[in-house]
Amino acid sequence: MSATLIAPSVLAADFANLQRDVEMINNSKADWFHIDIMDGVFVPNISFGMPVLRDIAKHATKTIDVHLMIVDPDRYIQTFADLGSDILTVHYEACTHLHRTLQAIKAAGMKAGVAVNPHTPISLLEDVITDIDMVCIMSVNPGFGGQSFIENTFDKVKALKALITRKNATTLIEIDGGVTDKNAAQLSEAGADVLVAGSYVFKSEDPTTTVANLRDMVN
Ligand code: DX5
Ligand code: ZN
Repeated sequence: MSATLIAPSVLAADFANLQRDVEMINNSKADWFHIDIMDGVFVPNISFGMPVLRDIAKHATKTIDVHLMIVDPDRYIQTFADLGSDILTVHYEACTHLHRTLQAIKAAGMKAGVAVNPHTPISLLEDVITDIDMVCIMSVNPGFGGQSFIENTFDKVKALKALITRKNATTLIEIDGGVTDKNAAQLSEAGADVLVAGSYVFKSEDPTTTVANLRDMVN
């Protein structure tokens, strides 16, 4: 079984010292960059957009995992590919024609992810799971960093793991929201492949060490 990856969420970085925080991720044991794009419509918050991602991508030396919390994400698939996204995750709740969206993301040369809100059951992915490279289980309601982890996530990881096995899929399981040293090991054991961590990493005294500790905890 391969190691669980750690993806620090840049949403919790210091935007006045963005290059410093990007270099921190580059030089740490982190595996991916997690980039949260919010439009103030799908979620009640606006984060940052294309120019900021373009500048992050200039410095980032690791996989760029972009999480779109926006309505009608189809409009921007090519734009995010051009900006250097490796994985593009759209929300199940924001896609009327999810299958078509997934094919468009892959045609643009990216891995295709689907995020599910806390209220969305895993069973809704049944007919599309083999087309999805990664499912992002939201373990908080999307829109803000620093919220508490929703415990029902453990049951969703199990349900998703079972669906992936039953359908012979190779889909990765990502957990996003409220990840800390209190739940990381248990999530990894339950089957999580990628853990996103924002506040827990960036609000700590020494983010590089925090990333290393998280990484050790899940391997
Ligand atoms: C929430 C975002 C998360 C967020 C996680 O809407 O999708 O990626 O940055 O932040 P923490 O780890 O602070 O919950
Ligand atoms: Zn996210």
